Amino acid sequence: MGRRATIVGAGHTRFGAVEDGPRALLRTAVDRAVASVDRGVGRGTIDEGFLATLGFGGGQIGNSAAVLADEAGVPGLAVSRVENACASGGFALRAGARAIESGARELVLVAGVEKMTDVASARRRYWLGVSGDTEWERAAGLTFAGVYGLLASAYLNAHPEAAEALVAVAVKAHAMGARNPNAHFQRAVDPDDVRRAPRVADPLGLYDCCPVSDGAAAVLLAPEETAHRYTDTPVRIDGLGAATDHLAIQERDEFPGFAASRRAAEAAFRHAPWDRAQLSFAELHDCFTIAELLALEDLGLAGPGAAAQLTLAGATERTGAIPVNPDGGLKAKGHPLGATGVSQAHEVFLQLRAAAGARQVPGAERALAHNVGGAGATATVTLFARG
Ligand code: COA
Repeated sequence: MGRRATIVGAGHTRFGAVEDGPRALLRTAVDRAVASVDRGVGRGTIDEGFLATLGFGGGQIGNSAAVLADEAGVPGLAVSRVENACASGGFALRAGARAIESGARELVLVAGVEKMTDVASARRRYWLGVSGDTEWERAAGLTFAGVYGLLASAYLNAHPEAAEALVAVAVKAHAMGARNPNAHFQRAVDPDDVRRAPRVADPLGLYDCCPVSDGAAAVLLAPEETAHRYTDTPVRIDGLGAATDHLAIQERDEFPGFAASRRAAEAAFRHAPWDRAQLSFAELHDCFTIAELLALEDLGLAGPGAAAQLTLAGATERTGAIPVNPDGGLKAKGHPLGATGVSQAHEVFLQLRAAAGARQVPGAERALAHNVGGAGATATVTLFARG
């Protein structure tokens, strides 16, 4: 087994509509990541950075690699910006972990940020749309809610019982968001709230959709062999998978599932020293409730067509057999695009160190994080274990 990367520190801002701009959000997330390192860390020893962001709305943080170096307080640091839509964070984490695994780097900063709520709604739709197929889907008037609405219709057609599972996904997400002080929505909803909510893109209603959020997250990565300099409880990265699919959904071989998610999971598990049965919990990319059901099947956590049944049986609850999104997921924690994949790693860091407070998954030892770009054109799957 080669050199492995570990997370030795992690920081997170509040997600939601916040006053801070992207620079201040980044500064806060990095400061918190540095402060979280048990034995302390000198910023000057960070030897590479990766920044996940779409630069939503344009004109907010151009040439943003330099911005991360400034806001992290490491002027001159080599930083690369990673932009793969909503999967930017997962791909940035992968790039950072690879830099450690290769032996090239000893302490890597991975950060993600997005400022979305100060963008007017027509412009917001435009900026969400750039992550989909702009020649066909957007020309046909499709938003992401529209694309996921089509995916949900196809899935419900084959599995009518899944309608109640979508309700259960939303209720679970809000219940967990209520336990997460960083979440965009910190209030529980009941099944009737979800069922009676205004339709956004039939069959998806308001509570089936993630919100538009501001926020940032950051993690610090070090090789396993030096992690003890920073902490007694690092979180090891045991598997890194990433894949793409055709951007336009009409060109895909699989529908409504995401081949990119399936391929990323296969790649991640291929080299991991453990398999799905040993997972303690999963962070899944639930940008819309249907996405959680699709992910359970694409990643092999539920059999084909079995995600609804698994969900309705309570298996994905915090204390179930395979808890999903104890932080509230994109649905309730929020989805500041570039920050999301890094935020998932932050949650894993807390959970595997038994530091997640009221939302702690009992006995969490191994975790999976799944990050999707757009409607499945890009995806990462990362596997973690307590170090
Ligand atoms: N879930 C629950 N409540 C939500 C919500 C969501 N996703 N989005 C907004 N709300 C609430 C707001 O808090 C607000 O409540 P209040 O009246 O009590 O203050 C109310 O609904 C209206 O908020 P507003 O911001 O005006 O809603 P909107 O109609 O402009 O936007 C959506 C709602 C669903 C269209 C928007 O959140 C959206 O586009 N989400 C998807 C984002 C996306 O596509 N991301 C990429 C995924 S691939």
